[in-house]
Amino acid sequence: MSVSDLKKDSLKFLLHYTQTYGDIVHYRAESWLVILVNHPNYIKHVLQEKHHNYTKEGTPDLMMLKPMLGEGLMTSEGDSWFQQRRLIQPAFHRERIEAFSTTITDATQSMLQQWKLIADRDKPLEIAEEMTRLTLQVVAQVLFGVDLNCEADNFGQSVGVINECMAHFDPNNQDQLREFREAMTTLNRLVYKIIQERRCQNEDKRDLLSMMMLATDEKTQEKMSDRHLQEQIFTLLMAGHETTAKALTWTLYLLDQHPVVAKQLQDELATVLKGRIPTYQDLPNLTYTWMVIQESMRLYTPVWMMSRLCRADDEIGGYHIPANALVLISPYAMHRHPGFWQEPEQFNPERFRPEAVAERLPYTYLPFSGGQRQCIGLTLARVETHLVLATLAQQYQLRLIPDHAVEPEALVTLRPHFGLPMTVHSL
Ligand code: HEM
Repeated sequence: MSVSDLKKDSLKFLLHYTQTYGDIVHYRAESWLVILVNHPNYIKHVLQEKHHNYTKEGTPDLMMLKPMLGEGLMTSEGDSWFQQRRLIQPAFHRERIEAFSTTITDATQSMLQQWKLIADRDKPLEIAEEMTRLTLQVVAQVLFGVDLNCEADNFGQSVGVINECMAHFDPNNQDQLREFREAMTTLNRLVYKIIQERRCQNEDKRDLLSMMMLATDEKTQEKMSDRHLQEQIFTLLMAGHETTAKALTWTLYLLDQHPVVAKQLQDELATVLKGRIPTYQDLPNLTYTWMVIQESMRLYTPVWMMSRLCRADDEIGGYHIPANALVLISPYAMHRHPGFWQEPEQFNPERFRPEAVAERLPYTYLPFSGGQRQCIGLTLARVETHLVLATLAQQYQLRLIPDHAVEPEALVTLRPHFGLPMTVHSL
């Protein structure tokens, strides 16, 4: 396997390189000196201990995302990033998320109502799409108080197009460029609609949208422009639904492949909930449910790769890291490191018993990254995946249609390459 295989099969490439050459590997790709670090201490060094020396600015990831996300939270740096993070963070406090837990279970229940029409028949559902629709609805409702129900399909399809274009970007492909522009127009139209509707209502709804509209810049005292608002909303909608949808999709796939785990999950749900819809207060008692989700995010971590540019010469693990080297961190490779995970390819939720978790080095498991740029939405994502799985798995079992090939494809997120068609069976 050589560097030219990187784009063809990034996941195999990552595992091959780290497992053949060790925890720190360097190679040249185009004009970059690339350094892949795959040890919890090295990752901690980059993301936490010396985060000032490792920036997102100038990385290919950022260059790819900026035309779409502009100066939003995900793609900004320095003071601008810090101000935005401080403004947005309160919307993700645990109490706020708790207040929205019924929004999450209501949206799940209404999806399951639709499933009743096809349950116990041979008609499969495209589960990746179902989860995308659901998580988009939840994030729009929780953060911006808008019901995207009617628009979710349009939005989801456009996100799919953008995902494809970014993953297989070819500057000479005019058709691809046209598709990308059309998808962006659809998404921008939806986001502007959200802003305009709120402007017309002209009231402080005390949610993130109102907070962002009312906020003034510390230095200039100016309010956020419509363009910046649009970039921010877009960032949060994009970052907040695609990842969560993929975490749920892979969990449902793995449960079908592991009936013993599925049975243990159903037993826990039956014992704790006794047929009730779960509430936020039930979550601490649904421990196995959460272990299943964590283990799914270990094997199929939605964000499979992160990159940083080294600002000034540094040293990691005794190796010289020159300024301008591109440093890669792959949660996918770290989560399958045989030195830190026994039988890493096996799906085993027992790895997430509290005793086992306590023994693990920080940054061995990092689906939400870590340090300053850790996922801002992690509490929402945790509560949402926990409540959705608990609601769904006590009512239905999903079965992959026979002989359907399931392979992870590393686009912006990790997704099932050929989709995930599953039939729905009542319990
Ligand atoms: C299972 C679900 C999720 C996963 C696995 C996930 C994962 C991640 C990861 C790994 C990063 C760091 C990327 C980097 O440093 O390059 C990140 C950042 C981010 N995530 Fe999430 N995320 C999830 C859900 C969410 C949700 C629900 C939201 C918001 C509604 C969200 C919003 C963001 C934002 C805005 C950032 C950038 C934060 C910053 O740079 O300050 N994510 N996420």
